[in-house]
Amino acid sequence: MKVLVACEYSGTVRDEFLKRGHDAYSCDVLPCESKIKEDRHFQQDVSEILDDGWDLMIAHPPCTHLAVSGARWFTEGRKPWSLQEDALDFVRLLLDAPIERICLENPVSVISTKIRKPEQIIQPWQFGHTTQKTTCLWTKNLPLLKHTKVVEPEMVTMKNGKKMNKFHYDTFSLPKKERSHVRSKTFKGIAEAMAEQWGGE
Ligand SMILES: C[S@@+](CC[C@H](N)C(=O)[O-])C[C@H]1O[C@@H](n2cnc3c(N)ncnc32)[C@H](O)[C@@H]1O
Repeated sequence: MKVLVACEYSGTVRDEFLKRGHDAYSCDVLPCESKIKEDRHFQQDVSEILDDGWDLMIAHPPCTHLAVSGARWFTEGRKPWSLQEDALDFVRLLLDAPIERICLENPVSVISTKIRKPEQIIQPWQFGHTTQKTTCLWTKNLPLLKHTKVVEPEMVTMKNGKKMNKFHYDTFSLPKKERSHVRSKTFKGIAEAMAEQWGGE
């Protein structure tokens, strides 16, 4: 299958499709961090290659202006609403791409209220990671992703007695930019499930 992994700098999903023999490419405005196949990455705006005859696209558009957790930046007037509108337009462009099978991934976001509800909501702990990170999937012509290995999320009790997932706790100390970069990386267990279950024969 000709697979495009849009908005992916890590190469995580792309490499799982490549390992299973698919003609897979990633695309991001950033360079690819995976050294497995450097010639399998387009460093450019993905909107320029959506028409290139892909069988499947898995897209991870930025959630910075879409996540429900950041909504107060808009309601308190600290960010212009146009940023959210532009981010939604980008999501619409990806969802409406002329590609037979599509999965668009994002955290809990305004996509649900402004475009449509996700077909599925998953957690990394359903795919072998101890992380809790609510991940929504908007899909077209794809079956629901079956859980591959359900494990217990690892929690840390903080000084104030509140519990936090260990992954978020461990990455909390990183500088803000690095933190969101690390946190946005797709989990390998989810990438493996996508390639295994959506890659077909
Ligand atoms: C939330 S991160 C997804 C990271 C991904 N899960 C991974 O493992 O690499 C969103 C990515 O979208 C990229 N991006 C934003 N606008 C883009 C565009 N127009 N074309 C291609 N990539 C874009 C950003 O550079 C960023 O790396």
